[in-house]
Amino acid sequence: MGFFHVLLASLAISRALGGTTVDPAVLAACPGYTASDVKVHGGTLTASLKLAGKACNVFGSDIPALSLQVVYETNNRIHVKITDPSSARYEVPESVLPRPSGANPVSPKSAAIKFNYTTSPFGFSIMRKSTSEVLFSTASHPIIYEPQYLRVKTNLAPDANIFGLGEHTNTFRLNPDNTTLTLWSRDAYGVPTGSNLYGNHPVYFEHRKTGTHAVLLLNSNGMDIKLTRGALEYNVIGGVLDFYFLAGSQTDPTEAAKQYAEVVGTPAEVPYWSFGLHQCRFGYNNYIEVADVISNYSAARIPLETMWTDIDYMDRRRIMTVDPDYFPMNRMREIVEHLHSQDQRFVLMTDPAVGYLPDQGYGPYDRGTADDIWLKNANGSQHLGLVWPGVTVYPDWFHPKIQDYWSNEFELFYNPETGLDIDGAWIDMNEPSSFCDLPCTNPFQQAVKQALPPPRSTLPPPPDAPIFVNSIPVRHSKRDDLLTPQYSINNAAPGGNLSSKTAFTDTVHANNLTEYDTHNLYGTMMSVATQQAMLARRPGLRTLIITRSTFAGAGAHVGKWLGDNFSTWDHYRRSIAGMLGMATIYQVPMVGADICGYAQNTTETLCARWAMLGAFYPFMRNHNSDTSNSQEFYRWPLTTEAAKNVLDMRYRLLDYIYTSFHEASLQGTPVVSPLWFKYPKDAATYPIDLQWLYGDSILVSPVTEENSTSVSIYLPKDIFYDFLTLTPVRGTGAPVLLTNVSFTEIPVHIKGGAVLPLRAKSTMTTSELRETDFEFVVAPGTDGKAEGHLYIDDGVSVDQAAATEVAMHYKYGTLVVSGNFGFKTGVNTARVRFLNVAKAPAVVLLNGKVVARKSVSYSKATKVLDVAVGLPFTRGFTVTLL
Ligand SMILES: *[C@@H]1O[C@H](CO)[C@@H](O)[C@H](O)[C@H]1NC(C)=O
Ligand SMILES: *[C@@H]1O[C@H](CO)[C@@H](O)[C@H](O)[C@H]1NC(C)=O
Ligand SMILES: *[C@@H]1O[C@H](CO)[C@@H](O)[C@H](O)[C@H]1NC(C)=O
Ligand SMILES: *[C@@H]1O[C@H](CO)[C@@H](O)[C@H](O)[C@H]1NC(C)=O
Ligand SMILES: *[C@@H]1O[C@H](CO)[C@@H](O)[C@H](O)[C@H]1NC(C)=O
Ligand SMILES: *[C@@H]1O[C@H](CO)[C@@H](O)[C@H](O)[C@H]1NC(C)=O
Ligand SMILES: *[C@@H]1O[C@H](CO)[C@@H](O)[C@H](O)[C@H]1NC(C)=O
Ligand SMILES: *[C@@H]1O[C@H](CO)[C@@H](O)[C@H](O)[C@H]1NC(C)=O
Ligand SMILES: *[C@@H]1O[C@H](CO)[C@@H](O)[C@H](O)[C@H]1NC(C)=O
Repeated sequence: MGFFHVLLASLAISRALGGTTVDPAVLAACPGYTASDVKVHGGTLTASLKLAGKACNVFGSDIPALSLQVVYETNNRIHVKITDPSSARYEVPESVLPRPSGANPVSPKSAAIKFNYTTSPFGFSIMRKSTSEVLFSTASHPIIYEPQYLRVKTNLAPDANIFGLGEHTNTFRLNPDNTTLTLWSRDAYGVPTGSNLYGNHPVYFEHRKTGTHAVLLLNSNGMDIKLTRGALEYNVIGGVLDFYFLAGSQTDPTEAAKQYAEVVGTPAEVPYWSFGLHQCRFGYNNYIEVADVISNYSAARIPLETMWTDIDYMDRRRIMTVDPDYFPMNRMREIVEHLHSQDQRFVLMTDPAVGYLPDQGYGPYDRGTADDIWLKNANGSQHLGLVWPGVTVYPDWFHPKIQDYWSNEFELFYNPETGLDIDGAWIDMNEPSSFCDLPCTNPFQQAVKQALPPPRSTLPPPPDAPIFVNSIPVRHSKRDDLLTPQYSINNAAPGGNLSSKTAFTDTVHANNLTEYDTHNLYGTMMSVATQQAMLARRPGLRTLIITRSTFAGAGAHVGKWLGDNFSTWDHYRRSIAGMLGMATIYQVPMVGADICGYAQNTTETLCARWAMLGAFYPFMRNHNSDTSNSQEFYRWPLTTEAAKNVLDMRYRLLDYIYTSFHEASLQGTPVVSPLWFKYPKDAATYPIDLQWLYGDSILVSPVTEENSTSVSIYLPKDIFYDFLTLTPVRGTGAPVLLTNVSFTEIPVHIKGGAVLPLRAKSTMTTSELRETDFEFVVAPGTDGKAEGHLYIDDGVSVDQAAATEVAMHYKYGTLVVSGNFGFKTGVNTARVRFLNVAKAPAVVLLNGKVVARKSVSYSKATKVLDVAVGLPFTRGFTVTLL
C-alpha cells in the first residue's frame, strides 16, 4: 500500500496513512477574515469577508474574498452560508437534497436562537436567547477557506454531550476528548470502530441539562470532524460552508429531531408487512435451499414474513439475471408464487455496478451503453471498476436518462408476468464499492487474480426437485487535484487514497459534477432512483427499500441496514448505538443490524440473545455471509424459543410501532430513541447506549454479556411495568441488577403514562395480524394518567383513501378511546387491561353501562384489572372504574 509521510517545509503538517495531522498552532495562526459592508434586512444579514492578513495557504491558496449570508428561516432555524462569489463552487445539488424554503425570513426578535458576530477578525456565534447560552462559537478560531480545504472550529461547553456525525460505530455519545469522525462512503467490511463507514450524516445533536440543539453542515465532500477537549473542528476538502443551526428545545429533545426533519425531510412510510420478520443470507446455494428455509420456518412455527436472496441467485453475479442451473427462473417464480399465496413476501438484492460485457448480449449493459448513462473517466471513456461480476461500469445517477434506464431494468426483470415479482428492494455496494486495488490500471487482470465472478462451490441441483413438500453543475479549476487534495482525510480504505476501493474521484457525471464532490451522494441517489423504479413498476404501492450507503435525507426514500458486521458480542452491543444514530439523529428510522451477525460464526446463545435484541430494531432481519454457518432461528432450540417469544411481543406491538412510524413520517419524531430523549434532565441517561426506547413507551434492556443471565439496567425516577407480567416496577434513578434472565427472555418495560394498542395475539403473518382483535393496556404514570395513539390504514398504499386515527386518554379511572375510524379494520376491541389498580373496583362501566361481573377479572398479585369489551373497532368507547 502506498504509505507516505511528507513533512511540508516550515509547516508542522504531516500526511500519512490515517490522514493529515496539523499542528493546531499552524491553523490558529491563519489570518481569518474581516467583515465589511454588513447589511441587515429583517431576518437576513449579508456581508463581505476579506482575508484579514497574509494568506497562510495551508492546503492551497486562501480565497481572498467571501460572501456571508445569514437567514432566520424559521423561529428555530438559522441558515449561515459562506461562499466564494468569484467562482461557482460545488454545492450539494437541490435535485439530491431539496432545501427548505428560506424565502420568508422571520424576525430575529421572535427567534429562539440568535446569530451574533464580530467584524475583525470575523467570527460568529449562535446563542439560545432564553438562557443566553452560547451554542456554537468560532471566536478565536480563524475560518480557513481554500479551494480544497475549509476549516471551521467551534468551542463546546464543558457539559456538552455530542451525538451524530456518522455513520460510525463509536459509542452513541461521542468521546469529546480525542475523536475524529471521517465522512467518506466506504465499503467497510467488519464495520471497524473509529473509521469511516458506508454513509454520511454531517449533523450533530448537542444535549445538556439546559436543552438540545442541532447543527448540520450541509456538505457532501470528504471531511474530518475532530472533537478535542472543548472544541469541534470541521476539516472539509471542498464545497461551501453551509450551516443550519437548529434551536431544538430547552425541554424536549424531540423538537431537535423534528426541526432536523424540516431540513432533510421526514422518513418515507413503509408497508405494514415491513415490520414482520425478514430472513436472508449470502450463501444459499440454490433454489431448493431457499424453498427449504421457507418450509423450515413454517415447520418451526416461527412467523417468517419475507424471504430474501443475496447475489447467489444471479447468473455469474450479474444484476437482473438468474442463474439458469442453480436458481432457474421457473423455479424461482414458483417460490415467489408460493410466498405470495401464503401472504409472505420476497426481496432480492440489486447492486449498482453493471458487468462490463460488450457484445455479449447482456441487456443491462447494452441498453445502458446505448443510452450512454455510465459514469465517465475525465477523458470521456467508461469508468471501469471491479465488483462481483468482474469488471463493471457504474450507473451515473445524475444522467438525464438514468431514471428511465433504471425503471426499465426493474420493469423487465422484476416483472410479475415474466420475471421475479419482488415486494421490496435491497440495494448494496453503493458507496460505490470496487474491489480494484489502486492504481487499478488493469481491472481485467485483477478480475482474474481475484477469480471474479467466483465459480460455484457446489454442483447444480436437479432442475425439477420437489420443493415446499413441508410447507448545480460546475467544473473544477485546473488547479484542483481531484485525486490527491493536499489535505488528506482520514479515509480508512487501503492507502487512504480517496479513490481506493471505489469509483475514482476524477470521474465525471453527465452534468459535469465529479465523484470528488458527489461520492458521498451515490448510495442515496441510487436509493431515489430505485424508489422511483419500484413505484413505476408497482404504481401507488409503498415499497420497502433497504440500502447500505446513505447521505443526509436518505430516510425520506429508503431504510438502511447497518452493513457487514461480525457475529460477536461487541457488534451485538454496538448495533444499538448504530440504530440510534440512524433512527434518532439522521432520520433513517427503518434500520437494523444483521441479526446474529453477518460474518464469522454465531453461537446458539448469541443468536438467541440477538434475535431478541433485534426484535426491537425497526427493521428485523436475520442475515449472514456465505462463509458462515447457517443461522436461521430454527437451527437451535434456544434460538427458536427466543425468536418465538420475542416475535410474539413484536407482532402484538406492531400497530404501536406502525403508528410511531406514521408519526415520524409526518413530523420526524423518532421511532426509537435513547433514554435521555425522555429524561433530558437526568445526566445518568446521557451515556446509555445499551438500553433504548422502542416507540415512545417500550424500554428495552437486553442482556449484554456472553453467557450471562444478568444485566445491570438503569431505571430513571419513574414508574415502569414489566411487559410480560404487567407488574409495576419503581425506577429510582439508580442501576438495577436483573438476574436469572434466561437465554429466551429479554427485559422489556412499559414506561408509565402509556396506553398501548396491542393485538390480542400474534400470528404467523402480518396479514393475519391485521385480522386480529385489539386490546388496550393502560399503564398509568406517576401522576395516574396515561395516553396513546393508534393509526391504521391499508398498510400498502402511497395515498390513503381512509385512515383510522384514534387517541386513548386515561385519568381518574376513566379511559376514553376516541377519534376517526375511517379505515374499516373489521376487528373488535377484545379487552382493556388496567395496570397498577390498587383494588378491584366495585363497578365497571362500558359506555355508561354496567359491565357484567364475569367480564371483569382482577389479580391481586399483579394488580391487573381485565375488562372484556367485545365491541367492533368502528367507534370510540369509554371504560370507567368506580
Ligand atoms: C455579541 O458579540 C459581542 C462581541 O463578542 C459581544 O460583546 C456581545 O456581548 C455579543 N452579544 C450578544 C447578545 O451575545
Ligand atoms: C488520540 O487518539 C489517537 C488515535 O486513537 C491516538 O493515537 C492519540 O495518541 C490520541 N491522542 C491523545 C492526546 O490522547
Ligand atoms: C430444513 O429442515 C430439514 C429437516 O430438519 C433439514 O434436513 C434441512 O437441512 C433444513 N434445510 C434448511 C435449508 O434449513
Ligand atoms: C481514459 O482514462 C482511463 C482512466 O484513466 C484510461 O484507463 C484510458 O486508457 C483512457 N483512455 C484513453 C483513450 O485515453
Ligand atoms: C491515488 O490513486 C490515484 C490513482 O491511482 C493516483 O493517481 C494517486 O497518485 C494516488 N494518490 C496517492 C496519495 O496514493
Ligand atoms: C460539460 O462540460 C463540457 C465541456 O466543457 C460541455 O461541453 C458540456 O456542455 C457540459 N455539460 C453540462 C451538462 O454542463
Ligand atoms: C465456521 O464454522 C465452520 C464449520 O463449523 C468452519 O469451517 C469455519 O471455519 C468457521 N468460520 C469461522 C470464521 O470461524
Ligand atoms: C461462554 O461459554 C462457552 C461454553 O461454555 C465458553 O466456551 C466461552 O468461553 C464462554 N465465554 C465467556 C466470555 O465466558
Ligand atoms: C431462575 O428461573 C428459573 C426458571 O424460570 C426458576 O426455576 C429458578 O428458580 C430461578 N432461579 C432463581 C435463583 O431465581
